[in-house]
Amino acid sequence: MCGIVGYVGRRDCTDVLIDALSKLEYRGYDSAGIAVFENGSIKVAKSKGRLADLEKKMDEEERPLGNAGIGHTRWATHGEPSDVNSHPHSGERVTIVHNGIIENYKILKEFLVSQGRQFRSETDTEVVAQLLDYYYDGNPLDTIIKVMHELEGSFALGIVFADFCDTVYAVRCESPLIVGVGSDESFIASDVPAILKYTKDYYLLEHNEIAVLNNDGVKIFNLHKKEIEKELKTADWDMDAAEKGGYEHFMLKEIYEQPTAVRTTITPRISDGLPNLEECGITYDKLRNFENIYVVACGTAMHAGMVGKYIIEKLARIPVTVDIASEFRYRDPLVTDRDLVIIISQSGETADSLAAMRLAKNLGAQTLAIVNAKGSSIAREADMLIYTHAGPEIAVASTKAYMVQISVMYLLAFELALAAGKISEDECRRLTGLLQQTPEYISDLLEKKEAAQYIASSLITADSLLYIGRGLDYALSMEGSLKLKEISYIHSESYAAGELKHGTISLISDGMPVIAVATQTALLEKTISNIKEVKARGAKVVMVCRDSYEFENDIADYKFGLPDIDDIIMPMIAVVPLQLIAYYTSVLKGNDVDKPRNLAKSVTVE
Ligand code: F6R
Repeated sequence: MCGIVGYVGRRDCTDVLIDALSKLEYRGYDSAGIAVFENGSIKVAKSKGRLADLEKKMDEEERPLGNAGIGHTRWATHGEPSDVNSHPHSGERVTIVHNGIIENYKILKEFLVSQGRQFRSETDTEVVAQLLDYYYDGNPLDTIIKVMHELEGSFALGIVFADFCDTVYAVRCESPLIVGVGSDESFIASDVPAILKYTKDYYLLEHNEIAVLNNDGVKIFNLHKKEIEKELKTADWDMDAAEKGGYEHFMLKEIYEQPTAVRTTITPRISDGLPNLEECGITYDKLRNFENIYVVACGTAMHAGMVGKYIIEKLARIPVTVDIASEFRYRDPLVTDRDLVIIISQSGETADSLAAMRLAKNLGAQTLAIVNAKGSSIAREADMLIYTHAGPEIAVASTKAYMVQISVMYLLAFELALAAGKISEDECRRLTGLLQQTPEYISDLLEKKEAAQYIASSLITADSLLYIGRGLDYALSMEGSLKLKEISYIHSESYAAGELKHGTISLISDGMPVIAVATQTALLEKTISNIKEVKARGAKVVMVCRDSYEFENDIADYKFGLPDIDDIIMPMIAVVPLQLIAYYTSVLKGNDVDKPRNLAKSVTVE
């Protein structure tokens, strides 16, 4: 999604804005722009394409030179990616950058047109710029407050007024925005990595707060124009978190960070060999009383929920429904105050997941958020909260966040099972012990990258492929398939292996790759029957299964071997080859692995 940055200080503002925007590239974007105060007036440079295109344009024309300004990377929603639709957008005396959606922009635009205003772009953003300009009476704060009362939607804004040189205004209405504080300089940004090079100290703006940054420092106001004292937070990420650290891509770095991420996430939540989530507000007593559990999330986070469903139902015997957040919120769900609704989100800002959580709360359910981004909206609004400690995930394709999400689902499942009296303490200790061993297994699997590269090389010419599996392996297939399609652009689907012959098997043609995940011992023979069915129809089968499993070559063409560990814990390690296969396929195809086309990291619009 769009990224906002802003700067006031003594450095070359253009350099700072471009550098900060480069740290937000992971969010996905299709155009970029900046507005800088130069000799008392606002100079705008913007361009469709990547930051490099903007830099090239500025080199050809003129690079804005000044010490204060705002910048933006745009992910198109209203109007195609183009120079004219790129931000910043300006009225006569006001220039803005914007993240999010203005829901009532059409009505506002009609009003402004009736007042003789002319529009250059198709964006909802320009409506805000023109509206600010329309109401501007020489007092920026009053004007911003007036306009905020008229806008509907969730958004964040960076604003500069031509009359107020070297002052940057920032507004948060739902969409996240932080204000970084350095010595003699300040920043605004959509996310922490943008400012880490300059400062770790920041204020997290809350809904309906306005920040004013100038050479005297930072002031924050509410909509009643009352100045607010806020707690200065310190980011616990270091600079390395926002750098590739010698890896070719953030995605590869994040795949390799998984063993550490799992340890950091689970270790503080285990005491005396048993899960202990008390610091997250979760006690055995609380967990005892739920009738139903809903897991609501999007994309990869939803797939983590699928793994959670299998293990919670298997161990705790409580019914679990997994919902796509955008479906849940509009399907009038049968949630009651006797239910637990678990929201899983890396960013903690996904619009559909946030709305689904609010709906669940309105229906009286207890909400539990599993979130990676500290201080995010979902984290702040949930009744109970388990932070995953993966550190910042920069690559658009989620890997380490998924891994820590499922590690938390395991802890939760163990605790639910123990609370429900379905497993003994001894059994719980055994299971927790298995989970604690997984980082080592993951590290070992990461050594087998050549095997993944070999498989990837056989996939790059495919037009389409299938991932199949049963039970937990089906849940994993979903994630494997999503990972591959989002970064390699090869069409792929995941199917419950037993479902193939009810239609999908007709797609199998000579040489079509099928990736069969077969880690569940009790289901192995069943899955093998399904593999034989596709093999007999010409499929080229890659099997992800235990190394110890020997098979005839009439079953699979290639095996990615896994260690012999308990079935229930397999998803924690079996996802690794699926991630590596997707990664290397994308690399071999020459794609932009970290920033796949059309995708955004944090999806803050519906
Ligand atoms: C895929 C991916 C997405 C996200 C989804 C939810 O690799 O990253 O499918 O999982 O957009 O995002 P969060 O977890 O931030 O709510």
